[in-house]
Amino acid sequence: MYPNKNLLINLAKAENLIWDLLAQGVVNKRSEFHCPTLSTTNKNKLNSRTIILRKVIESQKTLFFYTDIRSKKISDIISNKNALIHVYYNRYKLQVQFYGKAFIENKNKNTKMIWERFKDFQKINYISKNKPGVIIKSDEAKYYKNIEIGYNNFTLIIFKINRIECLQLNSVKNSRAEFIYKSNSTTRNRLAP
Ligand SMILES: Cc1cc2nc3c(=O)[nH]c(=O)nc-3n(C[C@H](O)[C@H](O)[C@H](O)COP(=O)(O)O)c2cc1C
Repeated sequence: MYPNKNLLINLAKAENLIWDLLAQGVVNKRSEFHCPTLSTTNKNKLNSRTIILRKVIESQKTLFFYTDIRSKKISDIISNKNALIHVYYNRYKLQVQFYGKAFIENKNKNTKMIWERFKDFQKINYISKNKPGVIIKSDEAKYYKNIEIGYNNFTLIIFKINRIECLQLNSVKNSRAEFIYKSNSTTRNRLAP
């Protein structure tokens, strides 16, 4: 389906390919784009974690993720919106880094709409009595009985991409490029690998 060798020969095609891979990542659980790494900072401390890609809107250059309002990533984002999403696509030895700003939505029209479509097994991710990451005595985390309580914790992260950087390793030659999004314009640059 994709060119076998250098994916970055044509930068416009490469950019399209990355957006295709993101869209496929939402639905294909086996894709590396399904569970990227989100890195955030807080007072000079770096935190990275796996997070599932839920939705992509290419026209708005946005990615959507779900999380718990009580998690560390939320306090990180509140302290610094700038964040980074990283994916390594093994099949093509392609690294993609998405730079942008993360925005949080909680208890609003959008989160209500998503929550109402959730099945119970999705809702139970948000009903732990303990804040995620705190020390617990036994392996038995405590949960609220009423799963609807989880709605208060359920949070949408909207990640607005302002730059994509990609690097492909290749036995013949390595290639690197960036795509910069500013207002409605896209700049594509080839970078020294
Ligand atoms: C396969 C996998 C998928 C995950 N997906 C999510 C997710 O979509 N949202 C989320 O908040 N945490 C997700 N996690 C858990 C995070 O990696 C992380 O451990 C947790 O959110 C706490 O992160 P924080 O304390 O840095 O905020 C996932 C973990 C794994 C292993």
